[in-house]
Amino acid sequence: MAYSEKVMDHFANPRNVGEMKDFSGVGEVGNPKCGDIMRMYIKVEGDTITDVSFMTFGCGAAIATSSMATELIKGKPISEALKLTNKAVMEALDGLPPVKVHCSVLAEQAIKAAVSDYYKRQGIDPAPIVGDV
Ligand code: FES
Ligand code: FES
Repeated sequence: MAYSEKVMDHFANPRNVGEMKDFSGVGEVGNPKCGDIMRMYIKVEGDTITDVSFMTFGCGAAIATSSMATELIKGKPISEALKLTNKAVMEALDGLPPVKVHCSVLAEQAIKAAVSDYYKRQGIDPAPIVGDV
């Protein structure tokens, strides 16, 4: 049940934490299992996510997975960010204890919510692109 070194590293030194002022989209999701909240900000230029940051009141696993998720989507096209699954994030972290898997879903959902918000601000219906968030 121990955490991997990568999880501990991202928990102790989370990347891309904080509020973003000049964001293009912001999404907030809650975890029905524990009531924890995750907010994700993205900055979009052209079709690329040039910057991303997050804030969470979630647990250590939520912090580590969000940190890794932001690293994985920064500089990537929106289409690629939307394909990022919590499974891929967990693999990049060398795994999570089974009881913490649901925490990793927050980051994936928050990215989709932020992209949805971005499209709405552009006057584009996000549903066909992002799906249900
Ligand atoms: Fe609450 Fe993981 S989200 S126990
Ligand atoms: Fe809530 Fe992990 S316990 S995000």
